[in-house]
Amino acid sequence: MIIKDNCSLREHNTFGIAARAAHLLEYDSVEELQAFIRKRNVSGDTSALLHIGSGSNLLFLGDFDGTVLHSRKQEIHVTANEGDYVYVRVSAGIQWDAWVQYAVDSRWYGLENLSLIPGEVGASAVQNIGAYGSEAKDFIIFVDTIDLRTGDIRHFTAEECRYGYRDSAFKHELRGRYAVTHVHFRLSHEFRPHLDYGGIRSALAERGYDETNLTAEQLRQTIIEIRRAKLPEPSELGNAGSFFTNPIVGRDVYERLASDYPTMPHYDVDERHVKIPAGWLIEQCGWKGKALGRAGVYERQALVLVNLGGATGDDVKTLCERIQADVSARFGIEIVPEVNFI
Ligand code: EPU
Repeated sequence: MIIKDNCSLREHNTFGIAARAAHLLEYDSVEELQAFIRKRNVSGDTSALLHIGSGSNLLFLGDFDGTVLHSRKQEIHVTANEGDYVYVRVSAGIQWDAWVQYAVDSRWYGLENLSLIPGEVGASAVQNIGAYGSEAKDFIIFVDTIDLRTGDIRHFTAEECRYGYRDSAFKHELRGRYAVTHVHFRLSHEFRPHLDYGGIRSALAERGYDETNLTAEQLRQTIIEIRRAKLPEPSELGNAGSFFTNPIVGRDVYERLASDYPTMPHYDVDERHVKIPAGWLIEQCGWKGKALGRAGVYERQALVLVNLGGATGDDVKTLCERIQADVSARFGIEIVPEVNFI
C-alpha cells in the first residue's frame, strides 16, 4: 500500500492536468481498502473519496480536497470453463489493453475490437467502454465492488449494472458509492470476428489479411493501427479520448436534419432513435483542429479535446462549453461530455 499527502495528480489523468490531491492511497488488496474505509469513521460520507483508474476519463477543474483511491492489484484468474466459454475474474487495476492482449494470447476471444482503449479494467465496467461495434457489456457477467461507506463486499450482476451506450448504474444511482475491485468476463474459446463496423474490412484488406483465415492477433493489430491513425497518444498530447458521447435523437429530429444535411453520418439505435456522431457535428461547426488558449480540438478527430500544453481544467471546460453552444445553435442538439468533471 502506498499513501502520499499533497500528491500531484498529473500522472494520474491522461489530460495531464496539474491538479493535486490532499491524499492518494494506492492499495494492493481488497482487505487494505476495506481496512482504510472502516477506519475512516465519518458515518458513511463518501464525498471526500474519489476512486480512479488511470484517469483516462477525468477532467480536474481544481485540486481534490480528499483521498484519491487507486488499485494496484494485478490478477487474472479463470473461475470456470463451460463448453464454449471461459469465465475470467480480472482485477480492476489492470490496464484494459494489457487484459485484451492477455486474452488474445490465451486464445480467449471476443475483446479484439476493444484493443488499445485507454484506462483500466475497473473503469470498463463503469463506463461500458466501446469501439468498432463491441462494448464491454457484451462480455461482463458480474462486477465485484466494495461499498465505500461500510467496506462491505457487494456483487452486481450485469443486469443490475443496467448497461447502456457509455452508461451504467455506476454513473447514476450508484455513483461514488462503490469501488469496483474485479470484473468477471465471459469470453469464447472460438474466434468469431466482428468486422461489420465501417472501415475494418477495408483496413484488413489493405494489410493483405484474408478475412476467411483471420487470426485474433491480426484483428487486434488492425484495430490498434486504425485507432493510432485517428486518436492522439496521451503521453504525447494530453486527452481523454472521446470528450463527448454521441447524441441519440428522435427519428423526427434526425429526419429534419437529414433533409438539410443529406451526407450526415448516423446509426439507427432502434425504430424511434438515431445516433449522430458528435465528431461530425463539431467538425461542421468549424472546430476541428482549432484551439482556444491552451486547449484544442484534435485535428484528426473532432470528438477529442486535447491539452496543447499547460492547459488547466477550466481551459478545457471553456472550450467544451463554446463547442456545446455552437452545436446547439446550429443543430439544436445538446452534446454531453462523457468525461467526468471533478
Ligand atoms: N466524423 C467526422 N468528423 C470527425 C470525427 C468523426 O465527420 O472529426 C464522422 C466520421 O467520418 C464517421 C463518424 O463521424 O462517419 C463516426 O466516426 P468514428 O468512427 O471515428 O467514431 P465516433 O463515433 O467519432 C466512437 C467512439 C470512439 C470509438 C469509435 C470507433 C463514442 C463517444 N466514441 O467515436 O470511442 O473509438 O466510435 O468505434 O462513442 C473513446 O471513447 O475514447 C473513443 C475513442
